[in-house]
This record gives sequence, structure tokens and C-alpha cells, in this order.
Amino acid sequence: CRESAFVYAITSAGVAHAVSRACSEGIIETCTCDYRNRGPSGLDWQWGGCSDNIEFGYKFARRFVDSAERGRDLRFIMNLHNNEAGRVHVSSEMRHECKCHGMSGSCTVKTCWMRLPSFRDVGNNLKDRFDGASRVMVSNHGNFEHLRRRKYRFQLKPYNPNHKPPTRKDLVYFEKSPDFCTPNPKLGVPGTVGRQCNDSSIGVDGCDLMCCGRGYKTEVREESERCSCTFHWCCQVKCRICRIKRTVHTCL
Ligand SMILES: *[C@@H]1O[C@H](CO)[C@@H](O)[C@H](O)[C@H]1NC(C)=O
Repeated sequence: CRESAFVYAITSAGVAHAVSRACSEGIIETCTCDYRNRGPSGLDWQWGGCSDNIEFGYKFARRFVDSAERGRDLRFIMNLHNNEAGRVHVSSEMRHECKCHGMSGSCTVKTCWMRLPSFRDVGNNLKDRFDGASRVMVSNHGNFEHLRRRKYRFQLKPYNPNHKPPTRKDLVYFEKSPDFCTPNPKLGVPGTVGRQCNDSSIGVDGCDLMCCGRGYKTEVREESERCSCTFHWCCQVKCRICRIKRTVHTCL
């Protein structure tokens, strides 16, 4: 379902991201950062320094994460598609980062390299794709023989013929999500009884949606929090403990 699509994508993105970063930090023996220049330098800058090694991270994630998938059915193709979508959200968002080396910060000499997007940005983009995920079916049953690598995605057809086919960055699913309101141990769904909700939000974190119409209770809790923190040379932070009152809403 939609939720599993997101989990597959962000897991694969996480592996690609973490391994690429680890390469440039020198933590992995078999890779380094990427010293190759990607295309010609610009008028006022040149390639230099160390780029995050997304090529290694991407390939590693493809070998490592995709190998968990076995079979030749729709579920298999769909999981591979979502894994790939996660990785592509990392590799396509690589950005230029530059540094000036001139006298007192002037930019007479500028070197640039490629840097990974922040994982927060990758997560936000994947969350957008989650909201717009495509429900798919397979166009050609039983023909999964040559599906490795990129070919598999062409097999996915939108469930609704009026929707456009999923792109490489879209998340896909083929089953409606289960009802997350009521507990279902078989599916690992804990239900929403006891979840904290926000009474002023109209989103999924709002009490109306999250409590599924069952209502919620409101209580004022007293909590301790560190406050009035000051920095003492060197190097300690000292705080006081404050008691604060917080209003908490909980689904019934
Ligand atoms: C509750 O939702 C409102 C509106 O979306 C938001 O401004 C507020 O920060 C939320 N409060 C908490 C505690 O998340």
C-alpha cells in the first residue's frame, strides 16, 4: 500500500545517502570521495575538492537493498520501483557547493564540488510523492522475464486509465491502505487509541482525522523542562528545571 511504498523508498534513499556520505568521510575502505569533474568548469569557478560519492552510494544501495526482493510478480516490480524512486530522489538532488579562496574572502578563486541534499529535503520530497502516489496494475501479466534494472518500470500502468503513468520518481502501490483506525494485529496496525493529536490541525495529525471520529480527551499535564540555560567557560551548560503545564489531547 501507499505507506509501504514510502517505507521502501526512504529506506533505499537512506542507504544511498549514508553510504555516499561515508565515502567522502573516509569511513569506508573501498570508496573515497569523488574527485572527478562533472563537465567543464565555469567562467568564474573551477572544480575542486571532494564531491559526495553518490555513484558508489547509489550502486551499493541498488545491490544491497534490491537483493532483498525475490519473485516475478507485481509486488516484486513495485518494491523495486519504490526502492529506485528513493535512490533517484537522492541522486537527482545533488547540488553545487562552492568556496571562495581569494584575499579576505573575495571570490577571485572559487572551487566547487557536488554535495548530497540534506536527508530532511529528501524526506520532504518523498512525503510529497507519498501524498500523490500512483495506484498501479501490471499491463502484461506473466511477462516478467526481462525486468532487471530500469526496464521494470515500464510494466506499471496506472489503475485509473485517465492518470498518467508513474515516473521514475513517483511512488507506486497496488492495494488500498488498510484502516489504520482500529487495531489489526495481523497487519501490525496498532490503531489510534491513545495517540496524541492536535486539536487545531485539520491534517492527519488533527484530532478529527486521527481519532477517526471517536473523540478525544483533553488533559493538562505538568512536565519538567530544562530552562534558563547558560554557558560556562569551558565547556559546560548549566540549566534550571522549570515546571511547565502542557495541554495534551489523546484519542479515545
Ligand atoms: C497544531 O496544529 C497547528 C495548525 O496546523 C499548528 O500551528 C501547531 O503548531 C500544531 N501544534 C503542535 C503542538 O504540533
